[in-house]
This record gives sequence, structure tokens and C-alpha cells, in this order.
Amino acid sequence: MQSVEKSLLERTSVRRYEREVIPEETMNFIFDAIRNTPTSYNGQQFSVIDIDDQALKEELYALTNQKQLKTCNRLLIFCSDYNKITLLAERKGIDVPKFTNTMDGVIIGIIDASLAMMSAVVAAQAAGLGSNCVGYLRTVDPAKVAELLHLPKGVFVVCGLALGIPREHPDLKPKQSNDTVFFKNRYCENQTKLVDDLEKYDEIVKHYNATRSGGTTDNDWVAHILDYYRHAMNYRILDYLKAQGYEIEK
Ligand SMILES: Cc1cc2nc3c(=O)[nH]c(=O)nc-3n(C[C@H](O)[C@H](O)[C@H](O)COP(=O)(O)O)c2cc1C
Repeated sequence: MQSVEKSLLERTSVRRYEREVIPEETMNFIFDAIRNTPTSYNGQQFSVIDIDDQALKEELYALTNQKQLKTCNRLLIFCSDYNKITLLAERKGIDVPKFTNTMDGVIIGIIDASLAMMSAVVAAQAAGLGSNCVGYLRTVDPAKVAELLHLPKGVFVVCGLALGIPREHPDLKPKQSNDTVFFKNRYCENQTKLVDDLEKYDEIVKHYNATRSGGTTDNDWVAHILDYYRHAMNYRILDYLKAQGYEIEK
């Protein structure tokens, strides 16, 4: 098992995997880490769909064009889940508040599922696996993904996580500097210095992209990310949430 320091500081996304099967004891370790994730009020408003069916992986690949979905050994799909608590409340005759129709209800499910995914990322890294979060499973065709996974009302996909024995060791990506991430006691006062520091980071990413191993680009950071956001403006996630039973009101 790798140290916590190595697992956190040397992690990179890995998108190419060996064909080898992940040992069941390693998967059990990842599952235990997921189950022990801190969640709001210990409500645990998440569940995970563990996919090892190759045909299903291929279908998800066909929807998203994310090759790692079909080449990974296991694909974990992290969902926000209010179905479970609703089922139990109904069985016990307890009235269920329409919490799913509030933004906070939506946010809590997303936080719980996201933290659970992060537990899996760290556990997988510590166990020597490669992992890659796949957000396209949430965005590209959520209704089709919900149908393929038989998601009941109250459940929606937050993110996928592809896992496998690593077949590549990508360079660490440069991240924003301490000065642009951590502010002392209040939000950053000197916005001019903040943007100066961000500009330096933008240059670092541009240089990294131009020189990294395994395929170079001339992308900088800001224009590239904003291009993605422009594209993501077309996603209709609110419609999808409504279809899954979330009639968001406030
Ligand atoms: C919520 C989320 C969604 C992501 N979706 C995708 C994806 O659909 N496809 C992909 O190749 N990588 C995806 N990633 C991986 C990011 O691109 C990656 O984490 C980022 O570029 C930083 O690189 P690093 O993980 O190697 O540090 C996603 C990551 C997160 C956290």
C-alpha cells in the first residue's frame, strides 16, 4: 500500500489500463473506503453502481466516446440517491419532506456522492490502481444513462470513476499556486495580484501542455476551460433532474 503522502501528491488521472482484473480484496478495500466517507448528517445520500459487464461498458463508451469506459476493469458510477431513504420512510409510515425539490437537497446528494468518489480515488491510488473520473456520464445523455442503469426516481448520476491496473504514468499536471488557492481569514483582498498570479499559472499550463509527455497541445488554461464551459452551456441538466423526480423550487 502506498503512503498517504504519495497517494495524494503523486496521483494523476490514468486513462489507459492493463487487461488484468483488479483483485477482489482491492475492490473490497475501495468499497470500505467509500462506505466510510463523511456525509451530511450521516445521511449517506449516495449509492454506487459497480460495472464489470463489458457489454454495458461498451454501451456507455458509445454514448460518451470516452475510451477509458470500455478499457477499464471496473467502472464505478456515483449517484446522488434519495430513493433509499424514501423507501424506508414509506415502509415505516414516516412522511417524507420534499427535500429533493430544494437546491440544498440537490447539493447534499452531489456532495455525498462526490466525497464518496474521492474516497475511492485515494483508496485506488493507495492500492496501486489508476483512476479517472468521467463527468461525461452525467452530461452527454443523462436520460439514456438513467435508462441503461435502471435509475429509479430520486437517483441521478453525479460522476463515473474508471479503475484499472495502470498502463501509463502521466506527468503531474500543474495546479494553481498556494497564493491563488488559500486566502487568510478573508477572501483575497488584492485582486490585481490575484490576477497576476493567475496569469503566471496560465503560462505554466501553456508550457506544460506544449512540453508534456504523451501528446502536446498549444492550449493555455483559461481559454481552454472557458471553451469547455461554452460547450457545456448546452447541457439540459435541470430537465434531467426533473425527470428523476427533482422538482426544484427553492
Ligand atoms: C468531476 C470530474 C469530471 C471529470 N470528467 C472527465 C471526463 O469526462 N473525461 C476525462 O478524460 N477526464 C475527466 N476528468 C479528469 C480531469 O480532466 C482531471 O482530473 C484534470 O484534468 C486534472 O488532471 P489530474 O487528475 O491528472 O490531476 C474529470 C474530473 C472530475 C473531478
